[in-house]
Amino acid sequence: MSVEPAAVEDVAAGLRAAGYLPGESTALVAFLATRLGKPILVEGPAGVGKTELAKAMATYLGRTLVRLQCYEGLDEAKALYEWNYRKQLLRIQTEADDAGWNEVQDDIFGEEFLLERPLMTAIASPEPVVLLIDEIDKTDQEFEAMLLELLSDFQISIPELGRIEARTHPVVLLTSNNTRELTEALKRRCLYLWLDYPSSEHELEIVRLHAPELPETVTTRLVEIVQMVRELDLKKPPSIAESIDWARALLLLGAQDIDPETFRSTLSLIVKHRTDLDIVAERVGVRLGVPAS
Ligand SMILES: Nc1ncnc2c1ncn2[C@@H]1O[C@H](COP(=O)(O)OP(=O)(O)O)[C@@H](O)[C@H]1O
Ligand SMILES: [Mg+2]
Repeated sequence: MSVEPAAVEDVAAGLRAAGYLPGESTALVAFLATRLGKPILVEGPAGVGKTELAKAMATYLGRTLVRLQCYEGLDEAKALYEWNYRKQLLRIQTEADDAGWNEVQDDIFGEEFLLERPLMTAIASPEPVVLLIDEIDKTDQEFEAMLLELLSDFQISIPELGRIEARTHPVVLLTSNNTRELTEALKRRCLYLWLDYPSSEHELEIVRLHAPELPETVTTRLVEIVQMVRELDLKKPPSIAESIDWARALLLLGAQDIDPETFRSTLSLIVKHRTDLDIVAERVGVRLGVPAS
């Protein structure tokens, strides 16, 4: 069953029902994107819920999620489509000797010999989908330009086949970990959503959702500590993903409290750089040693 949100509150409730607790602007931007038919560019540090937002949108909207994971060197053949050379070759080989080249050529450049990649799948789908273009900052500007064209026309030209036009428009989410500046042209086409580390209240809610059996005192303490650790000047501050992992670990260990010993032994769940470990052990460990004032 596909869904068309009538108000921001619908989106907020729908995302919650899908297990995603949207922050203040998230539901608003998601609502506008759906109704205006514009892509969302979600930017922010790793582990703050960018990918998960796309999954939750798909669940809420009752649409299939088509995901393109970007990486350095990603090209059109892996993002859009490519010809299935092996199958084409087989077809040519099995062709009787008297068949003319023209006949074979018409044949081997048909849809049967096309390998659809995510962007093409999203465009050609008879049912509207949610298209996630994940970690776009890992590709180069050339790829961005191709994407831009696709996102404005919703069509793909295949020289041998002709134009493939979208029958339905996908809801598009692009994510970026902000490792490079994206082009102004791309930003202009998108609604922008900056996802940052959550507030204490928001993070409490998220951790409770993912580790509901963890004693409330531990959950509260955990969020307090994580927020404290984020204040330090670290190479990689812990994200929501780390908070959730830590909560699940503490649950498994049956922790009733985060005392200095528990903290020390599980620290590596939230801090993952040698130098960061030292800083946190010293700065936060010491604070945990003394009773809270
Ligand atoms: N608002 C949220 N509500 C529920 N879970 C969340 C939320 N934000 C993040 N998470 C959880 O945090 C983890 C990391 O999220 P993810 O989307 O993979 O991060 P990113 O794509 O930004 O690196 C996932 O397990 C996700 O379920
Ligand atoms: Mg991600």
